[in-house]
Amino acid sequence: MAESVQVDHTLSKEKKYEQLLPQLAGLTAGESDLVANLANVAAVLKEAFGFFWVGFYLVKDQELVLGPFQGPVACTRIGFGKGVCGVAWKEARTIVVPDVEAFPGHIACSSLSKSEIVVPILKNGEVVMVLDVDSDKLNQFDAIDAWWLERLSELISAFS
Ligand code: SME
Repeated sequence: MAESVQVDHTLSKEKKYEQLLPQLAGLTAGESDLVANLANVAAVLKEAFGFFWVGFYLVKDQELVLGPFQGPVACTRIGFGKGVCGVAWKEARTIVVPDVEAFPGHIACSSLSKSEIVVPILKNGEVVMVLDVDSDKLNQFDAIDAWWLERLSELISAFS
């Protein structure tokens, strides 16, 4: 049977996150494969919020390597401390970037990307991947996105 997730597009983003988190927990609970679960998480976030790009970079051999995502073709590898993703990995903290051109070292996979949020996902105290969300508009991410995506990060940590 196909899994489905209900999204009320009339809700505020905070309410959408609140509605989606339990559904994402349910959706991923029945599957043990990490890539399958990350792929569905990216699909749900894209569908619910219409993000320009949303996906995962996984730590592999001291690099971030592109994982499941939704959106345009993206850079495949990012070094430790490089770009927004590499800094979120190095510093193990969420980074909200209102204007990517103002972030030193930002990696422009697409020139259409204008603002961004990157949330690390930790396992046993170490960053194992990052969730990267890009918008084609400036100033699209704030403390509400950071808080809810960090709750999502905890959910992903639990099943990864
Ligand atoms: N902008 C990111 C690179 C990844 S793409 O946005 C998908 C960065 O600076 O790390």
